[in-house]
Amino acid sequence: MSQLNPTDMPDAEPVVVARDLKQVYKISRGFLHAPDHLQAVSGVSFTVQAGKTLAVVGESGCGKSTLARMVSLIETPTSGELSLGGVDVVKASPQQRHALRRTVQLVFQNPFGSLNPRKKIGAILESPLEINTGLDATSRGEQARAMLALVGLRPEHYDRYPHMFSGGQRQRIAIARALMLKPALIVADEPVSALDVSIQAQVLNLLADLQQELGLAYLFISHDLGVVRHIAHDVLVMYLGHAVEQGEKKTIFAQPLHPYTQALLASTPGIVGTGAAKKRIVLTGELPSPLNPPSGCVFSTRCPHVVAQCHSERPPLRELSGRQVACHLAEQFIQTA
Ligand SMILES: Nc1ncnc2c1ncn2[C@@H]1O[C@H](COP(=O)(O)OP(=O)(O)OP(=O)(O)O)[C@@H](O)[C@H]1O
Ligand SMILES: [Mg+2]
Repeated sequence: MSQLNPTDMPDAEPVVVARDLKQVYKISRGFLHAPDHLQAVSGVSFTVQAGKTLAVVGESGCGKSTLARMVSLIETPTSGELSLGGVDVVKASPQQRHALRRTVQLVFQNPFGSLNPRKKIGAILESPLEINTGLDATSRGEQARAMLALVGLRPEHYDRYPHMFSGGQRQRIAIARALMLKPALIVADEPVSALDVSIQAQVLNLLADLQQELGLAYLFISHDLGVVRHIAHDVLVMYLGHAVEQGEKKTIFAQPLHPYTQALLASTPGIVGTGAAKKRIVLTGELPSPLNPPSGCVFSTRCPHVVAQCHSERPPLRELSGRQVACHLAEQFIQTA
């Protein structure tokens, strides 16, 4: 970890820095055939500061979970740079990787699947401490009980099994377990997608409170912009493995400049867009296969504004009107009030 104390610096080092991250999977086509290559993530860059949330949004298969697996050290990127707390993940020694694993924790969509049904909640929360620290049983118990209180559960829950809890409570337990080793970063992959809307709001509020209290950084993955609106500071919109628009949430929600972002916002109930996003853009056509992405702009096969250049030339991600956007035509969507 960096030797610098974040409070000593006016502009603290980000918890995560990713530069041009790529993940390519080899897909076997059987004996005698060369494998295909699937670009699940095709060069994505971002930073996340302590106390901030970067939301990654996009349709199924656009590479969100792949990105989550790279940032949480489950998968090594095919190329690109990734550092956590100032330590280069790709070049880290085995000891450094071991230490880094404690600083980033995952919360999944399905809390029931990720909680061992045969273990009581107390044991589930204490398990990371048992494996990673030299704390005795009394201290582990104290920390587990304190964590239960922090995530809004009651002391008697310590002795209960996962099946005795509702979906929202189980997600509180999963969040508690993720926090036991005092991570700097939580990677949450669709953490509220399986919950009822009213429960979603409670879990999102809990995540926001914990972030304030503990200064956590979140990489928050969601296909739902309604959820993202509540939790994100920054947004990264992905399409077929590419970042098509990214920047501050308020800038992007106020005036999305990529037609894909416009379509996502227009299809989200309760979000009143401005300008182009106000019109109802319905995405037509199938999402192309990542094994055979369109030439030129990856969104060109479904874009309502497509022109010839979009088929021949891939638009680079570029700075425009306070965010980054990858669209040849983005200027024409800028509205001057
Ligand atoms: N281990 C793997 N081997 C081969 N292909 C994979 C592997 N993991 C993911 N993929 C492919 O990579 C692409 C991105 O998958 P990923 O799971 O990251 O998408 P996602 O955005 O999380 O989707 P969802 O919203 O459905 O969870 C998909 O085309 C998927 O089929
Ligand atoms: Mg996923």
